[in-house]
Amino acid sequence: MYEKILYPTDGSECSKRALKHVVEIAKKFNSKVFILHAFPFIPEYIGSEYREKIVSQSTLESERITKEAAAVLEENGIEYEVEIIEGPAHKAILNVADVRDVDLIIMGSRGVSAIAGVLLGSVSQRVVTHSRCPVLVVREGKGE
Ligand SMILES: Nc1ncnc2c1ncn2[C@@H]1O[C@H](COP(=O)(O)OP(=O)(O)OP(=O)(O)O)[C@@H](O)[C@H]1O
Ligand SMILES: [Mg+2]
Repeated sequence: MYEKILYPTDGSECSKRALKHVVEIAKKFNSKVFILHAFPFIPEYIGSEYREKIVSQSTLESERITKEAAAVLEENGIEYEVEIIEGPAHKAILNVADVRDVDLIIMGSRGVSAIAGVLLGSVSQRVVTHSRCPVLVVREGKGE
């Protein structure tokens, strides 16, 4: 049923909680997992030397975040692929979900810029609103 799962992560605690659910579901359904991290678009008008620096920093950070998730999947013998995309996270998530034709998206309710008292971050809210496949949103807090 869940042959392909999309796991978008920003490296936050909440998305790490979501990863536990990815592991359990992927093991049960023998799913392939797409790990996705999107980093902000860096405008062309920024001086080329400075731009290069930001891009390489973003790439390193994206690699760190996705490698951490990949290691967990690897430990659990789960097949995966990594996607690193420049641009708005919600667009990247919805686009990869369509292109890869995934059956399920598993993500955190909040991310790195959590504001107390708000249930859903803007990325999870947009994904839940526009996704064509089911979305499992894992809340922050205690317990599983
Ligand atoms: N850049 C990103 N790349 C991939 N997935 C992301 C990215 N940003 C957020 N996500 C996913 O969306 C979930 C919710 O994060 P979201 O960004 O919506 O909340 P927030 O950071 O608390 O709020 P906001 O970004 O609206 O200020 C994360 O747990 C993660 O699964
Ligand atoms: Mg965010």
